[in-house]
Amino acid sequence: MKRKFYITTPIYYVNARPHIGHAYTTIACDTVARRQRLLGADTFFLTGTDEHGQKIERAAQAAGTTPQQYADEISAEFRNLWKRMGISNDDFIRTTEERHKKRVQELFRRIRDNGYIYKGSYTGQYCVSDEMYVDGAQPRDPCPNCGRITETVHEENYFFKLSAFQDKLLEIYANPDFIRPETRRNEVISFVRSGLRDLSISRSTFSWGIPVPDDPKHVIYVWLDALANYITAIGYGSSHAGAQEAFKKYWPADVHMIGKEIVRFHCVYWPAFLMAAGLELPKAIVAHGWLLFEESKMSKSRGNIVRTETILDVLGADALRYFLLREVVFGQDGSFSFDALVQRYNSDLANGLGNLASRTLTMITRYFRGEVPYPSHAVARTPADDAIAEVGRKTIREFATFFDQFQFSRALETAWGLVAAVDKYIVENEPWSLGEKQDDESRARLATVLYTSA
Ligand code: MSP
Repeated sequence: MKRKFYITTPIYYVNARPHIGHAYTTIACDTVARRQRLLGADTFFLTGTDEHGQKIERAAQAAGTTPQQYADEISAEFRNLWKRMGISNDDFIRTTEERHKKRVQELFRRIRDNGYIYKGSYTGQYCVSDEMYVDGAQPRDPCPNCGRITETVHEENYFFKLSAFQDKLLEIYANPDFIRPETRRNEVISFVRSGLRDLSISRSTFSWGIPVPDDPKHVIYVWLDALANYITAIGYGSSHAGAQEAFKKYWPADVHMIGKEIVRFHCVYWPAFLMAAGLELPKAIVAHGWLLFEESKMSKSRGNIVRTETILDVLGADALRYFLLREVVFGQDGSFSFDALVQRYNSDLANGLGNLASRTLTMITRYFRGEVPYPSHAVARTPADDAIAEVGRKTIREFATFFDQFQFSRALETAWGLVAAVDKYIVENEPWSLGEKQDDESRARLATVLYTSA
């Protein structure tokens, strides 16, 4: 049977139009999904939009429209952008879809039936932008994640017994592959070691969300709703046989890829929810850094957003894909600049790969009517020919190793090492001079040099 591979992006909030920060996460996942398909895995790549919660409700109000209409518009923008970029996702889930809502309620019921949900009341600080409870904060304190002023909420809520999972979570983190990179893993471990408080998982002072089963005055906390997309999209909680099959086949996820600011939700809350529901845990959670623009994280509120569309118009999706994966060390923050984009485009793509391909193909066209010649046995191979073959084999091995560790920039650097080696080989072997000569030996040597270059 084929090996399966299930990878997800976070689902994107629909309060803001897509920008290249979002494209970055999606491109990274797309690249991994494409490689897995090439390696023969039965791959499922999921993305989508996160449409409930107070933040979206307020954004819609401010725009003078309904949350549903607001979400419809922005969700469509994400979907269209991914289409335009040739993103190879197998599904696109929206949290306002019926399939998702029903299945989230099913998850809630399951956790409640297992005894991990109780009713209580919460008074404390809440960050609407991050949709996050801020334990220990005082009124008007800033959110530790985004710096915005928190709001005081006082509500009757349903609580999740997060505190019951402290030891189990620490056991899971013992596997060094569960959270990557190491720095994020250490942060999570120290957060959990410092003690976990139960988590409010419903809200009752606004209504844009999925109703709590049997108590529709409450809506389910947007992060429980959103995280569940990773299982609802592949059929969890469905009564259809086909959906159940898909869930059995693809869950647990092989990789949840996320940005570093949402590590806690994915590495602490999500595994705890899954354990409470008696479900298997994802195999790995991989966090990347931020794309900075002019030194700070690109975001709508800072007004330093770079849109993807302009870049697609001018350079195309492949150039953007190459640039982001080559320029940013995956896991760390990286700066976006148009200068660097143009520089990489010219030096690596046009002059490096483009020039090598064009030279090689032009000579094959000129001297061999466009057919890659076989290396000739009439003249002996030289050590330089064998060296290129060896560099080729080594590049493939190293590329795979780096890539599978999510070190995309090093993988690409390795691949461009091969470009440089072949370039040098061509310069040293001067196929253009060989092509000018008519004797059999030169002709034979030309075949070998162009074969090797190709
Ligand atoms: N809706 C939540 C995720 C729920 S997942 C169950 C959310 N949405 S988001 O739209 O704010 O961010 C989605 C992803 O985009 C995150 O991984 C985030 O890190 C990424 N990025 C958004 N801006 C970014 C940059 N400027 N740079 C890099 N990635 C950024 O969080």
